[in-house]
Amino acid sequence: MAKDTLTITDNRTGKQYEIPIEHGAIRAMDLRQIQVAAADFGLMTYDPAFTNTASCKSRITYIDGDNGILRYRGYPIEELAEKSDYLETAYLIVKGELPNRQHFDMWKRNITLHTMVHENVKKFMDGFRYDAHPMGMLVGTIGALSTFYPDAKNIFDLESRRVQTRRLIGKMPTIAAFAYRHSRGLPYVYPDNDLSYTGNFLSMLFKMTELVYKPNPVLERALDVLFVLHADHEQNCSTNAVRSVGSSQVDPYSAVAAAAAALYGPLHGGANEAVIHMLMEIGSIDNVPAAVKKFKAGEGRLMGFGHRVYKNYDPRAKIIKRIAEEVFEVTGKNPLIDIAVELERIALQDDYFVKRKLYPNVDFYSGIIYQAMGFPMTMFPVLFAIPRTSGWLAQWAEMVRDSEQKIARPRQLYVGEEIRHWAPVAQRPEPASREDAVTEQI
Ligand SMILES: CC(C)(COP(=O)(O)OP(=O)(O)OC[C@H]1O[C@@H](n2cnc3c(N)ncnc32)[C@H](O)[C@@H]1OP(=O)(O)O)[C@@H](O)C(=O)NCCC(=O)NCCS
Repeated sequence: MAKDTLTITDNRTGKQYEIPIEHGAIRAMDLRQIQVAAADFGLMTYDPAFTNTASCKSRITYIDGDNGILRYRGYPIEELAEKSDYLETAYLIVKGELPNRQHFDMWKRNITLHTMVHENVKKFMDGFRYDAHPMGMLVGTIGALSTFYPDAKNIFDLESRRVQTRRLIGKMPTIAAFAYRHSRGLPYVYPDNDLSYTGNFLSMLFKMTELVYKPNPVLERALDVLFVLHADHEQNCSTNAVRSVGSSQVDPYSAVAAAAAALYGPLHGGANEAVIHMLMEIGSIDNVPAAVKKFKAGEGRLMGFGHRVYKNYDPRAKIIKRIAEEVFEVTGKNPLIDIAVELERIALQDDYFVKRKLYPNVDFYSGIIYQAMGFPMTMFPVLFAIPRTSGWLAQWAEMVRDSEQKIARPRQLYVGEEIRHWAPVAQRPEPASREDAVTEQI
């Protein structure tokens, strides 16, 4: 019978090593025994951006990028998007199972109890400049929450982890909405706990003088489905951040603030904004063939296309495309959708995109929907961060409970100078080009 091991021959020494394979991976530490001399450090792997390194074992989210499959805790994303809602999906992600009726009611009540923020949080947010980016406000405010809840430091206490989880999932829409209202110069709207999670969020965003805000049920449900689709996505940049920062045993607010900061970057949470800019620049359907030609020639990229993991249609993009039609029934059509659909049609027939397995990703249609719903582009990453909070917290808790995890501390391949000795300024040798030598450092 074939053995689950890997045999390695070190051609430097002629020695052979047999290394176990578990879950389709070898342990990097098993390579350390491969040495030329006894004093050697041992062999390492070099993997910038962890493109082929599993940093953890996880039971939360499964992705099969070649076949366009995404599952939370084993449940296909398509079923959850159609039949579940965000709070139920968040329960599933955080706790591992779908709730029974009693547990679900308790979960909803517990989250709802935590939608208010301390009045000082409001004052604190008021201190941001009038034109502060809402994502910057969100990152700063999440981090500041750790000062309001010092009990969050007890990360090995199950009850404390549970409370912080409810608090953060409950407060994220409130902080997000306050950040939006601040940037619009509008008074903050307090949570309305008679509304659903997304209904209340819409109320805190858009309520004006009416006594009770009634969210449009189609938009409320559309936003809820978008939240389901964004709840987790295994070891992406921000999840890696929450695990890495959390591995120092800092409180979850600080770790989640780090994750949100990672999401602020244009390569992560900013791609749907880039799609809108691209569609506006293309301007009309007639310009689509010329734009595709440009992308193929390497002049810019077709934003919202291609994915590090999915080499097939991103299953979330299919669902989002469907939601777009429902949203436009209410809001009127966002004219950019016609350009997007034509781009997709042409690209999916084109050899360049087919050969490279470039398909629409989650960001291709989401920005168009958010824009039609009245969100400014600066709110796009905020709308991503709210639902991703359940994923970040589930991944953080999994890391905290995992006895195999230690403080994250990658190795490096040092390629810098050998030892040099300090000399007085007059005696320092000039590098070949001081300009290059100094400026390349920053
Ligand atoms: C997401 C992304 C970074 C994944 O990149 P990756 O897996 O590292 O793939 P690569 O950058 O190595 O690209 C592989 C090939 O496809 C091409 N390619 C990838 N995405 C492309 C795009 N959106 N438009 C045009 N060409 C693209 C690359 O030029 C490269 O071609 P080459 O082999 O001829 O050099 C990339 O597809 C991209 O930049 N997409 C646009 C931005 C976007 O939508 N980001 C959101 C991701 S959720």
